[in-house]
Amino acid sequence: MKIGVLTAGGDCPGLNAVIGAVTRSAMEADDEVIGIRRGYAGLANRDYMELDRNSVSGLLRSGGTILGTSSFEPHREQAVEKIMDSIAEAGMDAVIAIGGEHTMGMTGRLHAEEGAPVIGVPKTIDNDISGTDYTFGFDTAVQTATDAIDRLQSTAQSHDRVMVVEVMGRNAGWIAVHSAIAGGADAVVIPEFATTVEELAEGVAIRHQNGKNFSIIVVAEGASLVFEGGSEQLVQPVEAADPYGYPRLGGIGAVLARELEARTGFEVRVAVLGHIQRGGTPTATDRLLATRFGVRALDMAKASEFGRMVAWRGNELTSVPLEEAAAVKSVDEATLELARRCFAAR
Ligand code: F6P
Repeated sequence: MKIGVLTAGGDCPGLNAVIGAVTRSAMEADDEVIGIRRGYAGLANRDYMELDRNSVSGLLRSGGTILGTSSFEPHREQAVEKIMDSIAEAGMDAVIAIGGEHTMGMTGRLHAEEGAPVIGVPKTIDNDISGTDYTFGFDTAVQTATDAIDRLQSTAQSHDRVMVVEVMGRNAGWIAVHSAIAGGADAVVIPEFATTVEELAEGVAIRHQNGKNFSIIVVAEGASLVFEGGSEQLVQPVEAADPYGYPRLGGIGAVLARELEARTGFEVRVAVLGHIQRGGTPTATDRLLATRFGVRALDMAKASEFGRMVAWRGNELTSVPLEEAAAVKSVDEATLELARRCFAAR
């Protein structure tokens, strides 16, 4: 068989581990793997690289993607025909598309409308893809954010400061809530759960009264500021979008810091972790999940199980229809309850 593999959307730790697992499993079965550069742009423009045991050697521990990535959208760019022609011309029997929920959506459409022989593999630090309990990249991002919170805690304590830590996650609070619990933060602000600015300020004031002159507040980039009485402030400038039209999030940390400083009178500083959460070597958990996904995707290609995405559900490797994966998965109720219990106790 000839199998194409591409990475699309934002990068995350573990992409190279999937590419390596697909390639090595294919070599075992005497199949050929074609690396497609920069996501669907590479398929439209026939921009390929050869993948073999040599080219994927030592990849497990490297962040990013050796294939490069882009958010090129075949339908928006009117490139669907080109893509179907490329698949036929290169003789690809299957294309494994590794990406986030946007990529799963466009890949599902290519299968449903054009009959493309595609299989999805879910990646993202945000862990916000429906149909799978976890995506690889998430564990590494949570570890990076937790390490940052640990470091910020000691300097906040030395200077009697409040530190606001802004983390990524798009419109879901997975990274924020997991790292806030693991890092022992004092409060968390996420899109799924409204905490008012007044409540946050009161929490900080109470800690000071109790002799704790510092606080750590983790805020998800996609959250809005909510005030008593129900008014909301969405911080993101809507006009700021990437070259493919996806909104760029970020900035809530600085606004929240100003509001807290005005209400409490304490010094409030901001740390925006940004792309640091996306880079670097994947954790062992992410390497394993990525490897499992890659091997399973290759098996699905060989079994012609097209139009589906590899998934991890209830501690088992499985697959779901791509349509199921296109929706955003918010933080689940059990995790929200855990967060409520942890932060109420501080
Ligand atoms: O989806 C992953 C992610 O890192 C989000 O958490 C973040 O909002 C976005 O990508 C940033 O994208 P870019 O690298 O295009 O700025």
